Amino acid sequence: MGGRGLRSSASGAVRALLDPLGLRGAPDPAAARRLYRLQAPTYERLTAAAAPWRERAADALRLVPGETVVDVGCGSGLNLPYLERRVGDEGTVIGVDLSPHMLAQARKRVQRAGWENVVLVEASAEEAAFADGADALLICAAHDVMRSPRALTNVLARLRPGGRVVAAGCKWTPWWTPFGAPLNVGTWLANRPFVTTFEGFSEPWSHLGTLVPGLAVEEVAGGCGYIASGAVPEGTPRRARRQRRGGPTVKL
Ligand SMILES: C[S@@+](CC[C@H](N)C(=O)[O-])C[C@H]1O[C@@H](n2cnc3c(N)ncnc32)[C@H](O)[C@@H]1O
Repeated sequence: MGGRGLRSSASGAVRALLDPLGLRGAPDPAAARRLYRLQAPTYERLTAAAAPWRERAADALRLVPGETVVDVGCGSGLNLPYLERRVGDEGTVIGVDLSPHMLAQARKRVQRAGWENVVLVEASAEEAAFADGADALLICAAHDVMRSPRALTNVLARLRPGGRVVAAGCKWTPWWTPFGAPLNVGTWLANRPFVTTFEGFSEPWSHLGTLVPGLAVEEVAGGCGYIASGAVPEGTPRRARRQRRGGPTVKL
């Protein structure tokens, strides 16, 4: 481990001591890379129940054959079949993830399926430099990406004008509702292995909402999940998309 790796492990240990539940703080890409080295072998078994939400998120992208779609934080590639089926042979799917261990599984999935139109990129969403002009972006179950304004700005800047974005994942249900507290304890236990922070877990889409005007948010699974969808404006110069005002519309 180099000096940078040691520093990042030490800061991770300090963070765990000060905030053992992981409720605060910015996402930590170096910690995520370490986390997913451990999680990669069991990830798919632990998250199999999310399949119906993947289908719904893919539907919300309104993909048509021939389009290019980017799966940000694609992990082991569980969303790739839904995306590939919708864009067809003429289209392209680009999967981006910072974890080599998760991407190794995605690569096996691509090989098994014989897809020649799926490209996998090992990079953080903050720094990924995949081709410009994509038609659509999916951010599924990647809370760390949703809480990184730098990651969101970078990936949104690579959409074409009018390009669509869908984000889906878990969230806190309101704590004051009758089953709010026990549901949220379950949500914490289910998500703890997969996030480096729960910061923003009440409204994971809040940063995205400042970048995508009119973002529509649907709360699902009794308020324990969400699907947010919107589009970057037509004809807006990329630089102007960086920070916009106007909160998202939430449908309960
Ligand atoms: C819970 S998994 C979700 C994987 C996949 N999207 C799915 O729906 O199954 C979160 C993924 O986000 C990736 N990730 C976390 N932070 C990231 C970042 N800053 N840039 C790129 N990928 C990131 C992790 O490596 C992990 O594979």
